[in-house]
Amino acid sequence: MLKTLIQKTISSKPAKVKVNTDGLDLSNMPQHIAIIMDGNGRWAKSRGGVRTLGHKAGVDSLKTIIKAADSLGIKVLTAYVFSTENWRRPLPEVQFLMKLISHNLSIQLQEMKENNVQVRFAGSRDENPPIVNERMDHAIEETKYNTGIILNLAINYGGQAEILHAVKAIARQVADGALNIEDINASVFEDNLYSKGLPAPDLLIRTGGDLRISNFLLWQIAYSEIWTTPVLWPDFTPDLLVEAIKAYQNRERRFGGLVQK
Ligand code: IPE
Ligand code: IPE
Ligand code: MG
Repeated sequence: MLKTLIQKTISSKPAKVKVNTDGLDLSNMPQHIAIIMDGNGRWAKSRGGVRTLGHKAGVDSLKTIIKAADSLGIKVLTAYVFSTENWRRPLPEVQFLMKLISHNLSIQLQEMKENNVQVRFAGSRDENPPIVNERMDHAIEETKYNTGIILNLAINYGGQAEILHAVKAIARQVADGALNIEDINASVFEDNLYSKGLPAPDLLIRTGGDLRISNFLLWQIAYSEIWTTPVLWPDFTPDLLVEAIKAYQNRERRFGGLVQK
């Protein structure tokens, strides 16, 4: 009885991460932050460990950053978990990653619910092990009415595959007579992307030091501000998230127009 009461008390208090917001302009926060969480393998190697150790540490890092983003009032966080090209890795690493994904979708769900996180996904289901898809569906179902931060996990995601997926869906609507070619516009196109209903990322972060997009959100990042750091993903901290947001706040977003001075 007492044990249950204590557990209830503990679990009813969502864990908060302390974030130092000194110097942040809280009236100019990015709504949507997308992150290419790169560098897990190198992080593990630098510690003399196997790559999979880095992926485990990467999960801890993501958990912290979700809480930090939430307490900063970020509305959407998209995290690149597994790309359509990551199947090219050695089978044991791919199998480990799929197990890590399905395991965490299951064990983190309760905390996501308590923290009012709404979980969504981007990516193709076709190649995933069935258990991953089942847990994705379960996480969507269990968190769909949550009103806190939207955690959009990109799993078996590729920007090119997403665009092709949208093109096929639109072509089908045209072939069925449900859509006129003349009516295809950016908004119709976006309605056929995995990110339907989400704003475009304001800020794109890449850890691990590489200066490339690696097939992430090709359509959506048209006008995202890009910030990179050589810091490897398991070493990424809430302070670095704040640093990225400060850099974002010092950018001049013109969207092709001119800023009135
Ligand atoms: C990112 O870390 C995680 C995934 C791509 C799944 P990496 O595994 O790419 O780590 P590095 O880039 O090899 O260090
Ligand atoms: C991008 O990292 C994919 C994820 C972070 C899930 P990669 O390690 O796969 O990218 P490349 O191969 O260095 O471009
Ligand atoms: Mg990498």
